[in-house]
Parts: sequence; C-alpha cells; structure tokens
Amino acid sequence: MRLLFTMRIIGHGIDIVETARIERLIDQHGTRFLERCYGTNELAYAEGKRCRSEHLAGRFAAKEAVLKAMGTGLSGRIQWTDVLVLRKPDGQPFVTLTGEAQRIAQELQIDQWWISISHIATHATASAIAVATDG
Ligand SMILES: CC(C)(COP(=O)(O)OP(=O)(O)OC[C@H]1O[C@@H](n2cnc3c(N)ncnc32)[C@H](O)[C@@H]1OP(=O)(O)O)[C@@H](O)C(=O)NCCC(=O)NCCS
Repeated sequence: MRLLFTMRIIGHGIDIVETARIERLIDQHGTRFLERCYGTNELAYAEGKRCRSEHLAGRFAAKEAVLKAMGTGLSGRIQWTDVLVLRKPDGQPFVTLTGEAQRIAQELQIDQWWISISHIATHATASAIAVATDG
C-alpha cells in the first residue's frame, strides 16, 4: 500500500533583532524582561555563553518570525513564552508552541515548523516556515 501525503506551506516569517536592543532590555528590566520573553530552557542555553545576547536575540527573532508566519504578530492573548525555541543535540533549533499560539497554530492546521537562526555580534536573524501535512 502506498501512503500519500501532501505538505502545504501555511506561512513564512522572518525577523531581525539588534543584539544591543536585547542588552538594553536586560540592563533596564533584568529578570522581568527575561522571564516575560523566554522559557527556562531558552535562558539556560544562553546563560553563561560568551555571546549570550546573540543567542537571546536569535531566539527573539525566531519567536517574531513564527508569529509572522501565523499572520498574528504579538496580538491578543499571545505571549512571548508561548513560542519556545529549543535545540536538538546537534544544535538545530526547533519550535514548540503552548497557550494561545498553539491554539492558533492548530486552527491553521500547522503541524510542522521549519526554522533557521543566524547571528553575529550586532544582529540576529531568523526565518520560520509553517507547514501543514495532509493525508
Ligand atoms: C550550524 C552551523 C553551520 C552554524 O553556523 P555559524 O555560521 O557558526 O553560526 P550562525 O550564527 O549562522 O548560526 C548559529 C545558529 O545555527 C543554528 N544551528 C546550530 N546547529 C545547527 C544545525 N546542526 N542545523 C541547523 N541549524 C543549526 C542554531 O540556531 C545556532 O544559534 P543558537 O546557538 O543561538 O541556537 C555550524 O555551527 C555547524 O556546521 N554546525 C555543525 C553541527 C555541530 O557541529 N554542532 C555542534 C553543536 S553541539
């Protein structure tokens, strides 16, 4: 028996974030900013790294890219921590959604996220593609 399935691209989003902006927000708001925007695992990964703000900026860019791909941006009841950017053992990032973001993704039938992050000292960028699998 041959199993057939098709994949539909539901949306694509990109974003770019200045690392200095993240550093400013940390200086101004400290843990209040960090805990409002990042989950425990995201913070643990960046913590202690020489270029912590690059990793955090990359995750911030990825969160924005995901929200753009869903067509929402940060609106309604969505929170930054609804979009978590984690990593596989080889370093490849992946996304898990909770809360309102997860609800909207389900409504849009999104069941896969393809994301990519890149960063240098001054900027981080990310791209997110939302995919629905049929069949
Ligand atoms: C992936 C790789 C090309 C990154 O390129 P780079 O120019 O050094 O760095 P960039 O700023 O462009 O990208 C860094 C981001 O790439 C992503 N990345 C890392 N490993 C990845 C992989 N195997 N596949 C896809 N994306 C990966 C991460 O999101 C990383 O950012 P983060 O650490 O903040 O999560 C390079 O690190 C590589 O070849 N890695 C091979 C896998 C490896 O050695 N892993 C060891 C880590 S445990």
